[in-house]
Amino acid sequence: MTDALNAIHDFLPCRTPQRWIENALANQDLMLIDHAHCEKKAASTALSLMYRYVDNTDLLNKMSRLAREELRHFEQVLAIMGKRGVRYDHLTPARYAAGLRKEVRAEDPGRLVDVLIVGAIIEARSCERFAALAPHLDDTLSDFYNGLLKSEARHYRDYLALAERAAGGPVNDRVETFLGLERQLIESPDTEFRFHSGPV
Ligand SMILES: [Fe+2]
Ligand SMILES: [Fe+2]
Repeated sequence: MTDALNAIHDFLPCRTPQRWIENALANQDLMLIDHAHCEKKAASTALSLMYRYVDNTDLLNKMSRLAREELRHFEQVLAIMGKRGVRYDHLTPARYAAGLRKEVRAEDPGRLVDVLIVGAIIEARSCERFAALAPHLDDTLSDFYNGLLKSEARHYRDYLALAERAAGGPVNDRVETFLGLERQLIESPDTEFRFHSGPV
């Protein structure tokens, strides 16, 4: 697992700021509610790709498995919330995903390549944050977040491989563009704490 995590640290433009970790530890109920939303949204994004790109068999298989895994994560977060008496509720989304998607090109195949790169970055950041948080959490949450690392690291690799295949070659230029944006979204002060927010 450390190899997969090292690869993710190499890929991402920066580590999660310490201030965000403090925000998360002070807002654990909110973190769980937003985490549940993120898992549900991850499944939904995978399903929408399956609707749009019906002739891409590799994408259909990888996204179908990914959607199932994200929904399973969603159920696991809900179960932990239930045990803690944390009620699931609507939340305004973080600026993060919308901030990344602003750069997605409008026309295919560029659109697909970009959406897949954004998917890879979101998975990689989620993995990095689970690893950063785990040592500070209680045993239940720590075990859960350490367990999620493995699948999120594979999701990152699957998205990146699909992006390269959709582009018919390396996607480094586009990845660099999106990582530049990502760094700002992760490091600049944010107004509301969310799983993918900047420090508040
Ligand atoms: Fe997940
Ligand atoms: Fe994932």
